[in-house]
Amino acid sequence: MELALQSGPELALQPTARLVPKMLNHAAFVTHDAALTADFYTRVMGMEIAHTVVDDYIPSTETSFPFIHLFFRMGDGATLAFFESPCLPSPAKPSHPVYDIFNHFAFHADTREEVRRWRDWLARNGVEVRGPVDHDGQFLSIYFHDPSGLRLEVTAPTDSSWNRHTEEARRDLEYWVQAKERARREGADTSSIVGWVREAREDHRNRSRSSG
Ligand SMILES: [Fe+2]
Repeated sequence: MELALQSGPELALQPTARLVPKMLNHAAFVTHDAALTADFYTRVMGMEIAHTVVDDYIPSTETSFPFIHLFFRMGDGATLAFFESPCLPSPAKPSHPVYDIFNHFAFHADTREEVRRWRDWLARNGVEVRGPVDHDGQFLSIYFHDPSGLRLEVTAPTDSSWNRHTEEARRDLEYWVQAKERARREGADTSSIVGWVREAREDHRNRSRSSG
């Protein structure tokens, strides 16, 4: 049987600079109500308001409008940040539902029990929570929105080295790129892509077993 995809990564995906970002400093989003946002992140999420900038000039883009920039601190010192500029119109509606589903910010929890405690605490505070959702036994997550509509997640990984599966991740990316290319070449429906990636993974597993 012809294999769905070629095997083995061809993308280099090796770091070449001797630099790596140390940790999340901040991720920043837009709010239409700084006070409501501050109440949510301090009272409900238990984060300290850590830093503010109030100005009417953004040096990085050389643009001018009045704003407050707020930072809220998590347990490890990383921060989640917001900008409010008064009288902003509502953002444009996304062109596809995936933008509202995929774009999100996830907080780390140490245990599955902690995720359930977050679910109960958020629900007691009137926050609509989806989950806990068990992702194949690898992560337990809940999903909810902050007052600005930013999609948030609290997740507990079962595997403490979940963020060190580098070889597998490189392979998956290679299979994904190849599957997209195959769909393009064959004019196939993109719904075939995930099946091809799974076949390629299975084939890799079988070859690893027989060579090991
Ligand atoms: Fe996530």
